[in-house]
Amino acid sequence: MAKSAFPLLLSLLATPTTNALILPNNVGKLPALGWNSWNAFRCDITEQVFLDAATKLVDLGLKDAGYVYVNVDDCWSNKDGRDPVTNRLVPNATRFPDGIKGLADKVHEKGLLFGIYSSAGNKTCAGYPASLGYEEIDAETWAEWGVDYMKYDGCGVPSNWLDECDVCTLDGKDDGPDPKYKNATCIDQTQLCPQGYDFSKSRTAERYNRMRDALLKQNRPIEYDICVGGEAAVYSWGNETGNAWRITTDIIPEWWSILMILNRNSFLSHQTNFWGHNDADMLEVGNGGLTLAESRSHFALWAAMKSPLFIGTPLPSIQPSFLEILLNKHLLAFNQDDLYGAPAQPYKWGHNPDWTFDMSWPAEYWSGKGKEGTLVLMLNTEEGSVEKSAVWGEVPELEEGKAYEVLDVWTGEEKGCVRGNYTVEVASHDTAVLLVKGECGASGVAASQGGGRMQLLMSP
Ligand SMILES: *[C@@H]1O[C@H](CO)[C@@H](O)[C@H](O)[C@H]1NC(C)=O
Ligand SMILES: *[C@@H]1O[C@H](CO)[C@@H](O)[C@H](O)[C@H]1NC(C)=O
Ligand SMILES: *[C@@H]1O[C@H](CO)[C@@H](O)[C@H](O)[C@H]1NC(C)=O
Ligand SMILES: *[C@@H]1O[C@H](CO)[C@@H](O)[C@H](O)[C@H]1NC(C)=O
Ligand SMILES: *[C@@H]1O[C@H](CO)[C@@H](O)[C@H](O)[C@H]1NC(C)=O
Repeated sequence: MAKSAFPLLLSLLATPTTNALILPNNVGKLPALGWNSWNAFRCDITEQVFLDAATKLVDLGLKDAGYVYVNVDDCWSNKDGRDPVTNRLVPNATRFPDGIKGLADKVHEKGLLFGIYSSAGNKTCAGYPASLGYEEIDAETWAEWGVDYMKYDGCGVPSNWLDECDVCTLDGKDDGPDPKYKNATCIDQTQLCPQGYDFSKSRTAERYNRMRDALLKQNRPIEYDICVGGEAAVYSWGNETGNAWRITTDIIPEWWSILMILNRNSFLSHQTNFWGHNDADMLEVGNGGLTLAESRSHFALWAAMKSPLFIGTPLPSIQPSFLEILLNKHLLAFNQDDLYGAPAQPYKWGHNPDWTFDMSWPAEYWSGKGKEGTLVLMLNTEEGSVEKSAVWGEVPELEEGKAYEVLDVWTGEEKGCVRGNYTVEVASHDTAVLLVKGECGASGVAASQGGGRMQLLMSP
């Protein structure tokens, strides 16, 4: 079922379309950073939850590190319907005594930005009224309230708005647009679209384009996140519609979910650049059963993939060790680089042969170029610690035989001038992250500390 027509299709689409989501003041150019209520609070939200998050973003230094959005997720409106006269959505007055505008004002007073949620269907995922057919009225309402970010989910789609066909989607095996995709078999029963099908003309794309157009009519830039769970090959048209698009089902705070999303995104990394980002879903750093090592891997790879980064944990009780991960300045600098838009991409799979689609053993070796140098990540998917080598000759941005200054991104330690390769012991489920900077060591002369040194990067 390989859809070999994909690369051709993409090159046709890539011709003169202007991206409509280039917003004023560079809004949406870089991945969004902030906090969202869903992962920690689900529907159990009140104004206080967001005021606490806003206060803590400032007090913990997260705002200064770039996390500026405070985003309300599902369940903020009256569940029983719209205002019968104005047809507007009505904030739940028990949860939001000052309304959404009152909350947005308080968030803005702290120098932060404010985001809201709806769904491109009749009901949100939690069963609240949603925006299909009300795009203009809702976009107007949000602009009036001072909304800066819109997360638009894919629930509650009535049958006449469902797509007639799809790629193999969600957690199934989707052979996607990259020619390097391994042949894969669909595991769900979705009716497959014929070769050459233009997903930008799908009903899903139309539902999301309607909200884009309504948002663009407002007198304030509203960053637009298409939360479509990877359906309708969103990565092939998302860049014309939104600033970010979800590529999988929801994340959950378990290691297999991190690996599943990572595997999926490793085949889509070329779809991310300035103004449009694959959204790997909100962070679970500090949530559920993820260990510190797993949280490091989750954050490092999400930042390196240039996903939007939304903290999903209650900040008043966050553990310092998790906070430290979220504040890693080199990973944030890579994610927010305004000179290099492309994300890190896998250069070697490790456990598997290259370009293997495997939800349990995704690509382990990733690299990407940024202003500070080349970021190299080595993930250990195994159950025990493993010695892993970043071999300069294998990293596309580096050259065999050369020596480079290396910095350990977790400890901030300068590792000196390293020739040939950098080898470390990586604990189970952890990720070594190096910043490989300028060349060093006169040519022909052994580098000061030589290559291939071994050290325990972090204790298990
Ligand atoms: C408003 O939220 C409260 C919970 O805080 C809930 O009990 C009530 O049913 C909600 N009202 C509506 C109209 O959805
Ligand atoms: C869903 O919403 C659309 C657009 O507002 C409306 O025409 C349709 O009747 C609704 N369908 C259901 C099943 O509620
Ligand atoms: C996919 O399968 C086809 C038919 O079996 C084969 O010709 C092609 O080489 C395969 N492609 C890859 C990338 O494995
Ligand atoms: C997405 O669109 C923007 C604006 O046109 C462009 O700069 C960027 O390169 C596009 N992304 C990709 C992956 O082509
Ligand atoms: C790394 O460099 C050391 C020292 O030159 C060498 O012994 C070792 O084989 C290299 N490892 C790899 C994986 O290239």
